[in-house]
Amino acid sequence: MTKQNLVEIRGLKKWFPVQKGFIERLVTRQRQFVHAVDGVNFEIRRGEVFGLAGESGSGKTTTGRLILRLVESTEGDIFFDGIDLTTLDGEGMRRMRQRMQVIFQDPFASMNPRMKTGNAIGHSLEIFDIARGEENRRRVLDMMERVGLTPASTLYDKYPHQLSGGQRQRAIIARALMLHPDLVVADEPIANVDVSVRALLLELMVQLKQDFNLTYLFITHDLATAKYICDRIAIMYLGLICEMGTLEQVYRNPQHPYTQALLAAVPVPNPHARRTAPLPKGEIPSPINPPSGCRFHPRCPIAEKICSQEIPPLQPLPGNEEHQVACHLV
Ligand SMILES: Nc1ncnc2c1ncn2[C@@H]1O[C@H](COP(=O)(O)OP(=O)(O)O)[C@@H](O)[C@H]1O
Ligand SMILES: [Mg+2]
Repeated sequence: MTKQNLVEIRGLKKWFPVQKGFIERLVTRQRQFVHAVDGVNFEIRRGEVFGLAGESGSGKTTTGRLILRLVESTEGDIFFDGIDLTTLDGEGMRRMRQRMQVIFQDPFASMNPRMKTGNAIGHSLEIFDIARGEENRRRVLDMMERVGLTPASTLYDKYPHQLSGGQRQRAIIARALMLHPDLVVADEPIANVDVSVRALLLELMVQLKQDFNLTYLFITHDLATAKYICDRIAIMYLGLICEMGTLEQVYRNPQHPYTQALLAAVPVPNPHARRTAPLPKGEIPSPINPPSGCRFHPRCPIAEKICSQEIPPLQPLPGNEEHQVACHLV
């Protein structure tokens, strides 16, 4: 593992067993699995924003949760700062979690409704026995100022339902930063807030990244959002990465037909510009029995015979190590 990588993921898989009814279990003996993440490799470099994008159900959230070990992997390795997380015991992982924090999509679901905002933000400092009482309060107020939760002393005593959506998300961000983590996994952090505050929250995240020396794993289904904040990006489809590269490489020169389709579907701000293209025909196939070969082939406009037969490996483009594509026809 090279020093520049904060996170390295190797051959990561998560298969969820499918829950079956009693009768079904009697009739079919074979256990079925949701192939949520099905053999994923990537690195997150120190100080970068690494984006994970793709339609809903492609395995983005599961990948994020695997890195934090909120779910256990079926197979594969997760290195964080050179340490294989899959080898850590409960206490080891507990200490490691101080260095990796998560911002979930839904600020309501991730805040205790009966805890005052200030107490929620400062809670981790108590859990890890870092600061209590006045010192805790002082640090929380300071962080609230930095994330724009002002006037901090007033908002400190408010309950989550008394805050606006944007304020709640700022509180979640503040809470995530209290332990000065190295990595922040942000899972659709602006998807549930009002359109008018999305840009402000993104700006805030960029600012905080500089102020606190953070590295982000930024998960989104929205390529327009990803474009604003990411340095590099991986496009996921049905549990696999189909294209990965710098923002410039992937947005200016997309190689995989799925990436091309996703980018064509991004709304353009100019109302006179061409109508946005629809996503390719058909629905996303079930991750329980993913298509053979390239998972995208049933929806792919240029698929050939080999595409249904062999899984295309994620490979660098000739003369370009950074830009990787998993397509037989590239
Ligand atoms: N705890 C779970 N049990 C069973 N299936 C799950 C579980 N979590 C996610 N899945 C399934 O795994 C697939 C990927 O889900 P997810 O990682 O949430 O995708 P995304 O974040 O890209 O929308 C989906 O088909 C989803 O239904
Ligand atoms: Mg998700």
